[in-house]
Amino acid sequence: MGNGTVRGIDGPSQWTGSTETLVLTAEEQAMLTGEFGPGVRKGMEIVVALGRIYGAGRLVPVSSVQVAGVSYRNLGQAGLEFLSEWAAQGAQVRVPTTLNPAGMDLRLGSALGFSDQFVRRQRAVIDAFQRLGVRPTCTCTPYLVGNIPHVGEHVAWAESSAVSYANSVLGARTNREGGPSALAAAITGRTAAYGLHRDENRRATLRVEVRCPVSTRADFGALGYLVGKAARNRVPYFLGLEGVDSSAALKSLGAAMAASGAVALYHVAGVTPEADGPEILATDHEVMTVDDLRPAYEALNADVRDIDLVWFGCPHAGLEEIAEVVRLLNGRSVRAALWITTAREMREQAEVEGLVAAVEASGGRVVADMCVVVAPMQELSFRTLATCSAKGGFYALSHAGLVTRYGAVEQCVEAAVTGRWSG
Ligand code: F3S
Repeated sequence: MGNGTVRGIDGPSQWTGSTETLVLTAEEQAMLTGEFGPGVRKGMEIVVALGRIYGAGRLVPVSSVQVAGVSYRNLGQAGLEFLSEWAAQGAQVRVPTTLNPAGMDLRLGSALGFSDQFVRRQRAVIDAFQRLGVRPTCTCTPYLVGNIPHVGEHVAWAESSAVSYANSVLGARTNREGGPSALAAAITGRTAAYGLHRDENRRATLRVEVRCPVSTRADFGALGYLVGKAARNRVPYFLGLEGVDSSAALKSLGAAMAASGAVALYHVAGVTPEADGPEILATDHEVMTVDDLRPAYEALNADVRDIDLVWFGCPHAGLEEIAEVVRLLNGRSVRAALWITTAREMREQAEVEGLVAAVEASGGRVVADMCVVVAPMQELSFRTLATCSAKGGFYALSHAGLVTRYGAVEQCVEAAVTGRWSG
């Protein structure tokens, strides 16, 4: 079959059905009946409800939780009150729990141009999370700053790109949690054993034969965009990417598939930890071939020339990605605004390496804690964006009102220097 088509797909696949009766341990039962307080009871009610909906037979302990839904722009006042109420009930997380990006750099506050009202409300959200015991790491790449679960470890993560990376590249086990369900897992230390926590649901259901060159990070994002659209929530198994050895490329691939589809796990033959296990391909798997990435580039590029903002760091940038931008800038000044979003801890490392100073000397910024897609970008004057992230490009217009150009890192750096998109 041709590029982007899948044989025999007529609807999203479901988790391999389990209809077990949920059995709780004595401690879990005590949590449910309120012996650990009303906050823990509320968390256990959510975990148990999900377990019953999905036919799980038991709960499993999780070693870490990553919570999404942090920007006040997405949460709103109702979300803030929900968090505050849960904290007032005495709920506390029982396992290391970190946060997804917020809508602003927590230290810069209004210095990026966001309104005082938003800054105040965003800080109130972070305070509420901290009262629950959550660490305000505010990053979508917790695995780049020390939270690296092992193969087979159960976690409960919520950010779609991080979920994809944890499952696929690290071989850990997590469903794509929602905000409340992730917090419930943190407060109880448990999640229900359904979906990607079970062996049978980790088998590939879509074999993807890649027959065109995939070399730049933008190419990996473009491939992810195409496969995600076709796969929806299937589990892809890639053939033809055996040479990929960069975590940044896999990060782009997974983030794009999680955005254009709902892919939470994929395997790359010869690369990812579960790919070469026995019976990794489900017997009734579908087949897709990709022989041209151009449809993705066409879909992700609007016809715009003048660029206001160039954004790197979606998912949040690692040190090598920041260094690459510095190398390509080569000391030149930028005409467009240039932001590199990253984890606070990564920014500190970049500062030590002299990378932050180099970006700032060119007129750019290394911004921590935040994501352009969840920030109130409408409060700023930017109208056009250039990015090398397919996920960022996919959401920029709908979530941030930014008309977008998508291309390789080199092309984005040139757009920053000239203020124009070329090619
Ligand atoms: Fe991260 Fe935001 Fe991109 S959460 S993956 S920087 S859209």
